Amino acid sequence: MSSVRIAPLHPSLGAEVNGVDLGQPLDEPTRETLTHALADHLALVFRDQSLTPAQYLAAAAAFGPPMEQHYSQHHMPGFPLIGLIWHRNGQQPAEQWHTDHTNRERPPAATILYGVEIPSAGGGTSVANMRAAYAALPEDERRRLESLTTFNGLDGHADTRPEDLQKYGTPIAHPMVRTHPVHGSRAVYFHISKATYIEGMTPETSKAYMRDLLDRMIQPSIVYHHRWRRGDVLVIDDRATMHRAHGDYDRRESRVLWRVIVEGDRPRLL
Ligand SMILES: [Fe+2]
Repeated sequence: MSSVRIAPLHPSLGAEVNGVDLGQPLDEPTRETLTHALADHLALVFRDQSLTPAQYLAAAAAFGPPMEQHYSQHHMPGFPLIGLIWHRNGQQPAEQWHTDHTNRERPPAATILYGVEIPSAGGGTSVANMRAAYAALPEDERRRLESLTTFNGLDGHADTRPEDLQKYGTPIAHPMVRTHPVHGSRAVYFHISKATYIEGMTPETSKAYMRDLLDRMIQPSIVYHHRWRRGDVLVIDDRATMHRAHGDYDRRESRVLWRVIVEGDRPRLL
Protein backbone atom coordinates (compact mmCIF):
# COMPACT_ATOMS: atom_id res chain seq x y z
CA MET A 1 0.00 0.00 0.00
CA SER A 2 1.56 3.25 -1.13
CA SER A 3 1.68 6.08 1.42
CA VAL A 4 1.90 8.79 -1.27
CA ARG A 5 -0.36 11.77 -0.66
CA ILE A 6 -1.01 14.36 -3.36
CA ALA A 7 -2.38 17.83 -2.63
CA PRO A 8 -3.09 20.35 -5.44
CA LEU A 9 -1.22 23.68 -5.17
CA HIS A 10 -3.17 25.70 -7.76
CA PRO A 11 -6.58 25.31 -9.47
CA SER A 12 -5.00 24.70 -12.91
CA LEU A 13 -1.83 22.69 -12.24
CA GLY A 14 0.78 21.76 -9.67
CA ALA A 15 0.57 19.42 -6.69
CA GLU A 16 2.63 18.76 -3.59
CA VAL A 17 3.61 15.14 -3.04
CA ASN A 18 4.03 13.94 0.53
CA GLY A 19 5.12 10.61 1.92
CA VAL A 20 7.98 10.06 -0.53
CA ASP A 21 11.68 10.12 0.35
CA LEU A 22 13.42 10.44 -3.00
CA GLY A 23 16.67 9.32 -1.36
CA GLN A 24 15.24 5.79 -1.05
CA PRO A 25 14.55 3.38 -3.92
CA LEU A 26 10.99 3.86 -5.24
CA ASP A 27 8.91 0.70 -5.64
CA GLU A 28 6.83 0.01 -8.75
CA PRO A 29 3.43 1.09 -7.30
CA THR A 30 4.98 4.41 -6.19
CA ARG A 31 6.54 4.97 -9.62
CA GLU A 32 3.19 4.25 -11.24
CA THR A 33 1.42 6.68 -8.89
CA LEU A 34 3.99 9.41 -9.62
CA THR A 35 3.81 8.88 -13.41
CA HIS A 36 0.04 9.37 -13.34
CA ALA A 37 0.22 12.24 -10.85
CA LEU A 38 2.63 14.06 -13.18
CA ALA A 39 0.36 13.49 -16.20
CA ASP A 40 -2.65 14.79 -14.23
CA HIS A 41 -1.08 17.71 -12.29
CA LEU A 42 1.79 18.60 -14.69
CA ALA A 43 4.08 19.87 -11.92
CA LEU A 44 4.96 17.95 -8.76
CA VAL A 45 6.70 19.38 -5.70
CA PHE A 46 8.57 17.23 -3.17
CA ARG A 47 9.69 19.17 -0.07
CA ASP A 48 12.62 18.72 2.31
CA GLN A 49 14.63 16.28 0.21
CA SER A 50 18.28 15.62 0.97
CA LEU A 51 19.98 13.97 -1.99
CA THR A 52 23.41 13.09 -3.26
CA PRO A 53 23.87 13.39 -7.04
CA ALA A 54 23.60 9.59 -7.37
CA GLN A 55 20.39 9.45 -5.28
CA TYR A 56 18.94 12.32 -7.28
CA LEU A 57 19.60 10.57 -10.61
CA ALA A 58 18.10 7.32 -9.30
CA ALA A 59 14.93 9.15 -8.19
CA ALA A 60 14.66 11.08 -11.48
CA ALA A 61 14.73 7.76 -13.37
CA ALA A 62 11.24 7.05 -11.98
CA PHE A 63 9.99 9.52 -14.63
CA GLY A 64 12.08 8.20 -17.55
CA PRO A 65 15.68 7.55 -18.55
CA PRO A 66 17.92 10.56 -17.75
CA MET A 67 19.23 12.05 -21.03
CA GLU A 68 22.27 14.17 -21.83
CA GLN A 69 21.75 17.94 -21.76
CA HIS A 70 23.17 19.78 -24.72
CA TYR A 71 25.09 22.56 -22.96
CA SER A 72 27.92 20.31 -21.77
CA GLN A 73 29.82 23.26 -20.27
CA HIS A 74 27.21 23.18 -17.44
CA HIS A 75 27.36 19.45 -16.68
CA MET A 76 28.17 18.60 -13.06
CA PRO A 77 31.76 17.34 -12.84
CA GLY A 78 31.60 13.56 -12.39
CA PHE A 79 27.82 13.47 -13.08
CA PRO A 80 27.32 14.53 -16.71
CA LEU A 81 23.57 13.74 -16.60
CA ILE A 82 23.06 16.53 -14.06
CA GLY A 83 23.12 20.11 -15.34
CA LEU A 84 24.02 22.96 -13.00
CA ILE A 85 21.81 26.02 -13.12
CA TRP A 86 23.96 28.69 -11.55
CA HIS A 87 24.39 32.33 -12.60
CA ARG A 88 27.97 32.45 -11.32
CA ASN A 89 29.14 30.32 -14.23
CA GLY A 90 27.79 32.88 -16.69
CA GLN A 91 24.23 31.63 -17.22
CA GLN A 92 21.32 33.98 -17.73
CA PRO A 93 17.97 32.96 -16.24
CA ALA A 94 15.72 31.48 -18.98
CA GLU A 95 12.99 34.11 -18.53
CA GLN A 96 11.15 33.39 -21.75
CA TRP A 97 8.34 30.81 -21.71
CA HIS A 98 9.56 27.53 -23.22
CA THR A 99 9.63 23.77 -22.92
CA ASP A 100 13.01 22.01 -22.84
CA HIS A 101 15.24 20.49 -25.52
CA THR A 102 12.77 20.53 -28.45
CA ASN A 103 15.75 20.09 -30.79
CA ARG A 104 15.78 16.40 -29.84
CA GLU A 105 13.86 13.73 -31.71
CA ARG A 106 12.59 12.38 -28.40
CA PRO A 107 12.47 15.49 -26.22
CA PRO A 108 12.21 15.18 -22.45
CA ALA A 109 9.05 13.88 -20.82
CA ALA A 110 10.03 15.89 -17.76
CA THR A 111 12.49 18.42 -16.43
CA ILE A 112 13.43 17.85 -12.81
CA LEU A 113 14.96 20.59 -10.67
CA TYR A 114 16.45 20.25 -7.19
CA GLY A 115 16.90 23.39 -5.08
CA VAL A 116 20.38 23.25 -3.56
CA GLU A 117 21.02 26.96 -2.84
CA ILE A 118 18.07 29.34 -2.82
CA PRO A 119 18.19 33.16 -2.62
CA SER A 120 16.27 34.83 0.22
CA ALA A 121 13.78 36.44 -2.20
CA GLY A 122 12.79 36.02 -5.86
CA GLY A 123 14.31 33.50 -8.26
CA GLY A 124 11.12 31.44 -8.58
CA THR A 125 10.10 29.14 -11.44
CA SER A 126 6.73 29.47 -13.18
CA VAL A 127 4.95 26.64 -15.00
CA ALA A 128 2.05 27.16 -17.43
CA ASN A 129 -0.59 24.56 -18.28
CA MET A 130 -0.47 24.29 -22.08
CA ARG A 131 -3.28 21.73 -22.05
CA ALA A 132 -5.53 24.44 -20.62
CA ALA A 133 -4.02 26.96 -23.06
CA TYR A 134 -4.97 24.69 -25.98
CA ALA A 135 -8.51 24.18 -24.65
CA ALA A 136 -9.02 27.95 -24.28
CA LEU A 137 -8.13 28.77 -27.91
CA PRO A 138 -10.91 29.43 -30.39
CA GLU A 139 -11.87 26.33 -32.37
CA ASP A 140 -10.49 27.61 -35.69
CA GLU A 141 -7.12 28.41 -34.15
CA ARG A 142 -6.92 24.96 -32.54
CA ARG A 143 -7.51 23.44 -35.98
CA ARG A 144 -4.87 25.72 -37.51
CA LEU A 145 -2.25 24.86 -34.86
CA GLU A 146 -2.97 21.14 -35.30
CA SER A 147 -1.85 21.48 -38.93
CA LEU A 148 1.46 23.24 -38.13
CA THR A 149 4.97 21.86 -37.68
CA THR A 150 8.02 23.56 -36.17
CA PHE A 151 11.63 22.92 -37.15
CA ASN A 152 13.91 23.01 -34.13
CA GLY A 153 17.63 23.58 -33.70
CA LEU A 154 20.06 24.50 -30.94
CA ASP A 155 19.73 28.15 -29.89
CA GLY A 156 23.44 28.46 -29.16
CA HIS A 157 24.69 30.83 -26.49
CA ALA A 158 28.05 32.61 -26.60
CA ASP A 159 29.70 29.79 -24.63
CA THR A 160 28.10 26.88 -26.53
CA ARG A 161 30.72 24.29 -27.46
CA PRO A 162 31.15 23.51 -31.19
CA GLU A 163 30.80 19.76 -30.51
CA ASP A 164 27.38 20.35 -28.89
CA LEU A 165 26.26 22.45 -31.85
CA GLN A 166 27.32 19.66 -34.17
CA LYS A 167 25.68 16.92 -32.08
CA TYR A 168 22.38 18.67 -31.38
CA GLY A 169 22.02 21.23 -34.16
CA THR A 170 20.29 19.01 -36.78
CA PRO A 171 16.78 20.38 -37.49
CA ILE A 172 14.04 18.28 -35.89
CA ALA A 173 10.34 18.58 -36.84
CA HIS A 174 7.63 18.56 -34.17
CA PRO A 175 3.86 19.14 -34.27
CA MET A 176 2.65 22.36 -32.60
CA VAL A 177 -0.08 20.38 -30.85
CA ARG A 178 0.81 17.05 -29.26
CA THR A 179 -1.18 14.32 -27.59
CA HIS A 180 0.00 13.39 -24.10
CA PRO A 181 1.08 9.72 -24.14
CA VAL A 182 -0.21 9.05 -20.60
CA HIS A 183 -3.11 11.49 -20.23
CA GLY A 184 -4.42 11.39 -23.82
CA SER A 185 -5.15 15.13 -23.89
CA ARG A 186 -3.77 17.67 -26.36
CA ALA A 187 -1.46 20.57 -25.57
CA VAL A 188 0.25 23.39 -27.46
CA TYR A 189 3.91 22.51 -27.94
CA PHE A 190 6.78 24.73 -29.12
CA HIS A 191 9.97 26.47 -28.00
CA ILE A 192 10.08 29.96 -29.46
CA SER A 193 13.85 30.22 -29.66
CA LYS A 194 14.62 26.61 -30.66
CA ALA A 195 11.90 26.61 -33.34
CA THR A 196 13.74 28.36 -36.16
CA TYR A 197 10.58 28.43 -38.27
CA ILE A 198 7.10 26.99 -38.74
CA GLU A 199 6.68 24.99 -41.95
CA GLY A 200 5.32 27.22 -44.72
CA MET A 201 6.16 30.47 -42.90
CA THR A 202 9.24 32.73 -42.87
CA PRO A 203 11.34 32.71 -39.70
CA GLU A 204 10.15 36.26 -38.92
CA THR A 205 6.45 35.44 -39.34
CA SER A 206 6.94 32.22 -37.37
CA LYS A 207 8.52 34.02 -34.42
CA ALA A 208 5.88 36.76 -34.47
CA TYR A 209 3.10 34.17 -34.45
CA MET A 210 4.67 32.22 -31.56
CA ARG A 211 5.19 35.48 -29.62
CA ASP A 212 1.56 36.40 -30.18
CA LEU A 213 0.42 32.92 -29.08
CA LEU A 214 2.43 33.13 -25.85
CA ASP A 215 1.04 36.60 -25.11
CA ARG A 216 -2.53 35.46 -25.63
CA MET A 217 -2.35 31.97 -24.13
CA ILE A 218 -0.35 32.34 -20.94
CA GLN A 219 -2.65 33.95 -18.39
CA PRO A 220 -2.23 33.94 -14.59
CA SER A 221 -5.14 31.49 -14.28
CA ILE A 222 -3.04 28.72 -15.91
CA VAL A 223 0.29 29.46 -14.17
CA TYR A 224 1.69 27.86 -11.03
CA HIS A 225 4.52 29.93 -9.55
CA HIS A 226 7.02 27.93 -7.51
CA ARG A 227 8.75 29.78 -4.68
CA TRP A 228 11.84 27.74 -3.96
CA ARG A 229 12.83 26.38 -0.58
CA ARG A 230 16.11 24.59 -0.13
CA GLY A 231 15.50 20.85 -0.53
CA ASP A 232 12.58 21.18 -2.98
CA VAL A 233 12.41 18.89 -5.98
CA LEU A 234 10.16 20.26 -8.74
CA VAL A 235 9.16 17.87 -11.55
CA ILE A 236 7.77 19.61 -14.65
CA ASP A 237 5.88 17.71 -17.38
CA ASP A 238 7.51 18.98 -20.59
CA ARG A 239 4.83 17.47 -22.84
CA ALA A 240 1.98 19.71 -21.73
CA THR A 241 3.53 22.75 -20.03
CA MET A 242 5.90 25.63 -20.61
CA HIS A 243 8.08 27.09 -17.87
CA ARG A 244 10.26 30.10 -17.21
CA ALA A 245 12.78 31.27 -14.64
CA HIS A 246 12.57 34.58 -12.77
CA GLY A 247 15.78 36.59 -12.53
CA ASP A 248 14.36 38.88 -9.83
CA TYR A 249 16.84 37.98 -7.11
CA ASP A 250 19.97 39.58 -5.68
CA ARG A 251 22.98 38.35 -7.70
CA ARG A 252 25.18 38.64 -4.61
CA GLU A 253 23.21 35.66 -3.30
CA SER A 254 23.64 32.20 -4.74
CA ARG A 255 20.96 30.24 -6.59
CA VAL A 256 21.91 26.70 -7.51
CA LEU A 257 19.51 24.19 -9.01
CA TRP A 258 20.48 20.73 -10.22
CA ARG A 259 18.64 19.83 -13.41
CA VAL A 260 17.91 16.40 -14.84
CA ILE A 261 15.87 15.82 -18.01
CA VAL A 262 14.35 12.42 -18.74
CA GLU A 263 13.62 11.10 -22.19
CA GLY A 264 10.05 10.95 -23.44
CA ASP A 265 8.19 9.92 -26.59
CA ARG A 266 8.50 11.44 -30.02
CA PRO A 267 5.77 14.14 -30.01
CA ARG A 268 2.71 13.06 -32.00
CA LEU A 269 -0.75 14.37 -32.61
CA LEU A 270 -3.24 11.52 -32.42
FE1 LIG B 1 13.92 25.22 -19.26
